[in-house]
Amino acid sequence: MTDRWRLAVVVGSVRRERIGDAVARWFVDVVRQDASPDVEVDVIDLAQLHLPADLGGGGDTELFAERIDRADAVVVVTPEYNRGYPGPLKTAIDSVLVPWNAKPIGFVAYGGVSGGSRAVEQLRPVFAELHAVTVQAVVTVPYAWDAIDADGVLRAPRAVSAAAAMLGQLTWWARALRDARTAVPYRA
Ligand SMILES: Cc1cc2nc3c(=O)[nH]c(=O)nc-3n(C[C@H](O)[C@H](O)[C@H](O)COP(=O)(O)O)c2cc1C
Repeated sequence: MTDRWRLAVVVGSVRRERIGDAVARWFVDVVRQDASPDVEVDVIDLAQLHLPADLGGGGDTELFAERIDRADAVVVVTPEYNRGYPGPLKTAIDSVLVPWNAKPIGFVAYGGVSGGSRAVEQLRPVFAELHAVTVQAVVTVPYAWDAIDADGVLRAPRAVSAAAAMLGQLTWWARALRDARTAVPYRA
């Protein structure tokens, strides 16, 4: 079994004036510096996908399911909205079921004083219901909007060590669960 693994990074904010894309770009840069070349990254931007809110399938649902299915681990990049996470992110999570099973999930969160941590705590039980494993280490970026420079680049040096810790945990789970799913298919 190769050590190379696949990471899907889901950009959970679809707001027109969002900073979520800058946060995701920052995280992907950290991944490339920390884990390259062992990890292959697929950025799944929910703003680029049509996932019907009636959960009836169609649109990009199949494509989204395939991309989550292919991933050995998923990182959800989420802002905090009213102590929760964005509605379109919940629609995306609920749109596919089996591809989440026995997958490790990490979080990169951002917001005001909480750094998005309350969004993460609401996401953990959602993923538990989907038989996914959320890793303990979380990246939080408080007042992220203040850390975006004039070129739209997030400068968050203090979050780099948290990202490395989260990636370390995710790497272990990604390989362990991939090998386990290969040995014995997971039945939810
Ligand atoms: C509808 C809405 C609700 C928000 N509620 C919170 C909140 O409860 N806690 C917090 O820390 N920040 C809150 N914020 C601030 C956001 O976390 C911040 O604007 C962030 O940049 C939003 O991510 P985005 O720009 O990628 O959409 C809220 C922002 C919006 C738009």
